[in-house]
Amino acid sequence: MKIASLQENKNIEKRVAITPEITKKYISNGFEVSIPKNYGHHLGFNDDEYKNLGAKIFEDEKEIIENADLILQLGLPSDEKLSHFKENQILVGVLNPFNNKDKINNLIKKNIKNFSLELLPRITRAQSMDILSSQANLAGYKAVVESFANFEKAIPMMMTAAGTIPAAKVLVVGAGVAGLQAVATAKRMGAIVFATDVRMASKEQVESLGGKFLTVEGSENLETEGGYAKETSDDFKIKQEVLLSETLKKIDIVICTALVPGKKAPIIIKDNMINNMQSGSVIYDLAAVQGGNTAFTKADETVDVNGVKIMGESNILNRLPTSASNLYSKNLYNFILNLYDKENKKFNINLEDEIIEKTLVK
Ligand code: NAI
Repeated sequence: MKIASLQENKNIEKRVAITPEITKKYISNGFEVSIPKNYGHHLGFNDDEYKNLGAKIFEDEKEIIENADLILQLGLPSDEKLSHFKENQILVGVLNPFNNKDKINNLIKKNIKNFSLELLPRITRAQSMDILSSQANLAGYKAVVESFANFEKAIPMMMTAAGTIPAAKVLVVGAGVAGLQAVATAKRMGAIVFATDVRMASKEQVESLGGKFLTVEGSENLETEGGYAKETSDDFKIKQEVLLSETLKKIDIVICTALVPGKKAPIIIKDNMINNMQSGSVIYDLAAVQGGNTAFTKADETVDVNGVKIMGESNILNRLPTSASNLYSKNLYNFILNLYDKENKKFNINLEDEIIEKTLVK
């Protein structure tokens, strides 16, 4: 079977779907791998490296598309590229089916099977394919590093002959995969860490990493069966606001990660709360791509409100694209092996398999 990948739009996406390490694995499993010239050059993955591992390098992407059985991407390819796709091909990526409905429907009409990995069920068997976790984990780490770099004081407590510098205080809003990694990273770097979430299950996880969990009084059970957050009630919002307003007065850095699947991100840090924060504080908002968790977040901009820097980042993974590609390409490889029928040497779209059924865009 022929596996291929096309250039991403590098202005918005620096990750790649096939790394040299994974090329080797595909080829040892009997797949052919085709990529365009300079595919991973910007990450230090040179054409020769891919070629020496057995990949085929093409000048013309049209030729790649026309010969592929399965195409692996990050985002949905451009309209021009999609126009060359043919019947019975398979496209796998993070296709954002809610925003790309019409384009994907056109592909479905051409009998192309589209798999979008952000739809993967969060079940044990899917963990090795879980792009949401692998990428959120890196995002949580990098958000801490970036926010600390923009904070103009030291992070750990320092006792020197000239006096003592207190440890910085960090609040993580949303303790899912990214938030827990943010807690762990900030803790490792010497900060005092607080975290809050609507899911009570995350309390123990935060505490096991050395963070202090802030429980909103009278928390309802706000977890769905799939492990995600539900939207909160007005009563909960008021209680959360009271708790966070007080806490934020003494916090130096806030990492926001709170998301509700398929909805706009909840605005948790309101304007009056930001006005009460100390000048020089930093808010790093990973929820920016879905509108942000603060009243002022702007995607890919730093907004200054009374000396508080609010940084909104829509694709933080572009700041560590090599690590992100390494994990993403491994997740895809595990997904592809699950889709592949080794005996009959073909891809088998078995809708009895929850992983395949849930990720297929219908
Ligand atoms: P996410 O990215 O959708 O949301 C991030 C966090 O924000 C979540 O913890 C959510 O509860 C929280 N949040 C939402 N609204 C909030 C609000 N108003 N105030 C405070 N916090 C708010 O979630 P993520 O990180 O993708 O994880 C979701 C779940 O999936 C977790 O329960 C996690 O343990 C589970 N999971 C399970 C896996 C498995 O294989 N079994 C693998 C990975 C995650």
